[in-house]
Amino acid sequence: MDYIEGESQTYFLALGCAIADPAAPWLNDSPQSALCRLQNQEGETALLYAATADPSFLAALLTAIQEQRRFAGQQGTLVASQIEPFASLASSSTHFNPMPLGEEQRNTSIIYGERFILKLFRKLEEGINPDLEIRRFLSEKHRLRHIVPLVGALEYRRLGAEPITLGVLQEFVPDVRNGWNYTLDGLRDYFDRLSIQPEDGREIPVPQESILALQQQELPELAIETIGPYLASARLLGQGTAELHCALASESQNPQFTPEIFSLFYQRSLYQSARTLTGQTMRVLAKRWQSLPPTAHPLAQRVLNRQEEIIWQYQPILEQKITALRIRCHGDYHLRQVLFTGKDFLIIDLKAIPIAP
Ligand SMILES: Nc1ncnc2c1ncn2[C@@H]1O[C@H](COP(=O)(O)OP(=O)(O)O)[C@@H](O)[C@H]1O
Ligand SMILES: [Mg+2]
Repeated sequence: MDYIEGESQTYFLALGCAIADPAAPWLNDSPQSALCRLQNQEGETALLYAATADPSFLAALLTAIQEQRRFAGQQGTLVASQIEPFASLASSSTHFNPMPLGEEQRNTSIIYGERFILKLFRKLEEGINPDLEIRRFLSEKHRLRHIVPLVGALEYRRLGAEPITLGVLQEFVPDVRNGWNYTLDGLRDYFDRLSIQPEDGREIPVPQESILALQQQELPELAIETIGPYLASARLLGQGTAELHCALASESQNPQFTPEIFSLFYQRSLYQSARTLTGQTMRVLAKRWQSLPPTAHPLAQRVLNRQEEIIWQYQPILEQKITALRIRCHGDYHLRQVLFTGKDFLIIDLKAIPIAP
């Protein structure tokens, strides 16, 4: 995709062509995958469609990974590889019935018989995909129980260019909820509990200390009574996150993962990017003024008036030497990027690009 403004982008779209008419039975289930009709000079017609709706195409992708196949194209080669030897797949005669993930997402994910999940990336980036890179690193060195194992990958390789990751195959974890849905359920339970035990005259104290000071203290009895089970899982999530960070901070050989210091140069660029981002955000806010509800105008005006003051808050980044180390991290960590199994959390969808020197 080329744009009038901004940089070009590369998208991955698998296409199929059905020559017979009526084209294919699965098109009835997903008519939106039909893209256009083709007709040749002889008047024969065919249908161009998004191949991810076609079960036989999806089955072929899994087989390609299983057999580590390569497909040469005009510009480059599609390379399907296994990361972990997954004997269960290779030896199994079971047919893994592919089903699209019935969930709104940025990419396209397919579940194979509740055993594997293949994520096909829509928007492509050159260079190794961080999800692949970090999980490969973690599975070789650390075998963290909080990371879902990767089993395979689909890459597009061209001469003289960085490979592009098209998809990653991982173990499917059945019966999980993502952390966000689990949290919403936890909150619902909390409110249900309060509505059957209406306030019994107890004041709910709002703590004044910082959260760092609070975490040294015992949890209030009332919190345990009303939202105890969720608090226990929040602790598990904290531990899992810490273990991930410890593993990512522990490398000293591989330069892609070795912790680095905050140089003054880097601190300056951090300051600059925070400043630039603030400027951009303010401009967007001003531009969208008309689309804001009038009740939000006074608040928006206050934010706009305080731009200088906001930027002033970044001053310590320039003035104080940061002595902590920079490590690789998840890159897009939020509750939808963890799966709750009922016993523990699993971390998925790592996105952080390498630390620029
Ligand atoms: N290994 C897995 N096992 C079970 N469900 C998964 C697994 N990986 C992802 N999912 C489901 O797919 C959803 C999106 O996955 P994710 O990798 O975060 O894709 P996206 O790049 O679209 O955010 C998750 O919220 C979860 O519901
Ligand atoms: Mg995600």
